[in-house]
Amino acid sequence: MHLTPWPDPLPAGIEVYRLDFDLTIEATAARRVLTSDERAKADRFARTADRVRFTSTRSALRNLLAGRVGCEPVEVPLAASLHGKPFIERAGGNAPQFNVSHSGSHALIALGDARTVTEIGIDIEACKANVDVEAISSLAFTTRECGEVRNAADRLHALYTRWVGKEAVLKAIGVGVAKHLKTIGIRPGANGQFALECAVPEWTNFQAAALRAPIGYAAALAWRAKEETT
Ligand SMILES: CC(C)(COP(=O)(O)OP(=O)(O)OC[C@H]1O[C@@H](n2cnc3c(N)ncnc32)[C@H](O)[C@@H]1OP(=O)(O)O)[C@@H](O)C(=O)NCCC(=O)NCCS
Repeated sequence: MHLTPWPDPLPAGIEVYRLDFDLTIEATAARRVLTSDERAKADRFARTADRVRFTSTRSALRNLLAGRVGCEPVEVPLAASLHGKPFIERAGGNAPQFNVSHSGSHALIALGDARTVTEIGIDIEACKANVDVEAISSLAFTTRECGEVRNAADRLHALYTRWVGKEAVLKAIGVGVAKHLKTIGIRPGANGQFALECAVPEWTNFQAAALRAPIGYAAALAWRAKEETT
């Protein structure tokens, strides 16, 4: 497993790391920093590739968070929300924000400084060439998005760009992705920044941007910046 800090500029208070996996070799060393519950979860995956993705990503996450929290990696107090979003269980509200995503041979880990970022979400997808663009669009996209994808010169690119943007935003919010795909509208703009459309009042003030993903992948980051209280 190889962990690389993101080479491109990122919003203030946010760090992103990329992991590259060898999916054929069990992640034995990474497993050592997992809790017993996490090891049991890893063991429930039937395929080596799924075990490697989960084990390596969770291990890298624990290592990144340990220094920021001030404990050993295995002791980072991770809990999960009602919808499964992991967070650090720590009183005081100053715990780092984080989110992970894995697909194919890569994972991304986003970290947000709690002084500037209140929510963070990230998504990476391996882009398959043979997907049914119309079927996925009608399942996941608003009427406007469906039209934009249908009319795009590169329909696959248009589909994956919107898909990862939408998933990153929903992961930042921390709800179930499938249930809310059409609640958020994504409009790609200049410099990879997305304009977001959302009618849910509690879900305003999120921002999102495309990330320059490895070849054959699409990725996006979403966050909510802390409001100034002066
Ligand atoms: C997890 C989910 C957000 C995205 O799945 P995906 O695209 O297959 O996977 P990704 O690799 O992009 O992201 C998975 C990671 O997101 C994190 N995650 C899990 N649930 C999450 C959520 N609701 N919001 C944000 N992040 C979440 C986890 O860290 C997970 O990785 P890990 O299991 O290795 O720790 C999707 O499966 C989902 O919507 N889950 C929620 C289902 C739900 O609402 N359940 C509640 C039942 S009451």
